[in-house]
Amino acid sequence: MSDDTTIREVDGSRAADVLTVVHEAFADRPPLDPPATALQETVETVREALDAHGGLLVEHDGEPVGALLLEPRGRLLGLRRVGVLSSVRGLGVAAQMASRAREIAQDRGFTGLELEARVELPGTISFWRNLGYVEADRNGNRLTMLRMLPITQTLATAEETREFGEHLAERLGPGDLVILTGDLGAGKTTLTKGIGIGLGVRGDITSPTFVIARVHPSLSDGPPLVHVDAYRLGDTAELDDLDLDTDIDEAVTVVEWGEGLAEALSGDRLELSLKQAPDEQRTLTLTPVGPRWREFDLGSIGLVTSG
Ligand SMILES: Nc1ncnc2c1ncn2[C@@H]1O[C@H](COP(=O)(O)OP(=O)(O)OP(=O)(O)O)[C@@H](O)[C@H]1O
Ligand SMILES: [Mg+2]
Repeated sequence: MSDDTTIREVDGSRAADVLTVVHEAFADRPPLDPPATALQETVETVREALDAHGGLLVEHDGEPVGALLLEPRGRLLGLRRVGVLSSVRGLGVAAQMASRAREIAQDRGFTGLELEARVELPGTISFWRNLGYVEADRNGNRLTMLRMLPITQTLATAEETREFGEHLAERLGPGDLVILTGDLGAGKTTLTKGIGIGLGVRGDITSPTFVIARVHPSLSDGPPLVHVDAYRLGDTAELDDLDLDTDIDEAVTVVEWGEGLAEALSGDRLELSLKQAPDEQRTLTLTPVGPRWREFDLGSIGLVTSG
């Protein structure tokens, strides 16, 4: 954005400017049925919303051109009335608001962000999709789009990585998919071992490099662990056709090297990326994707704390 564009968080004192943007932006859209309720907002309703939870206002050359309202929804931060004037389209105003909203969510301890988008506006939907939002729910013509925030954790030793997997396993159930990314030796199999211990499954979990996939049945009545190494797999079709002797809807599936391949298996997944430091330390980034993880809170997992 150019230097004469500012973005700031505002309260009810800027209700008139926010309302101007919202009305103008929403009136500018193709007619929708039912119409967007944004057009019914008044200075009073906007002021009340802004005083309660705040919002964002973008100004360009001193004129209000973009706005949104913030609304806490449990652990998620909701974005409402996201509006950008057509006169500034292409300047990245919406992207700037999205990224500021994400910072606010992170700073205030929300676990993710959520918004509603109309199915009649595919451009809007693909805008949010490109920012990592996924469809979480659908109510008539209204899509709920959700983006969970990534969580970062330092894992000082292989033991801590295993322990992390063990704690993570407490949160995993039938049908869950975990995608592990990271260089050779980053610790993907080590983490999977921990998941196997946590799930209480049979068999030693080793790198399945020469078999592509291995099924570890539960020692009790829990879900089996399907451990896949997608390193040499060509495409998702192959992953679908593994012909496992197990229904992956009934299993916890962990895919090493699954990035770009395993996503198609499920709209809900945990994306884990391991980065190797020069020493033993690893940095784990965990990104929950999809409505399954809406209530996911890593803070409650009871992680190792020495990292
Ligand atoms: N903090 C750590 N977390 C995980 N592994 C660690 C850590 N520190 C050292 N290690 C060592 O690094 C190695 C990780 O090997 P592992 O097989 O888990 O990696 P991988 O990512 O599965 O590799 P590949 O790409 O070959 O499948 C192990 O020997 C482990 O003991
Ligand atoms: Mg491995």
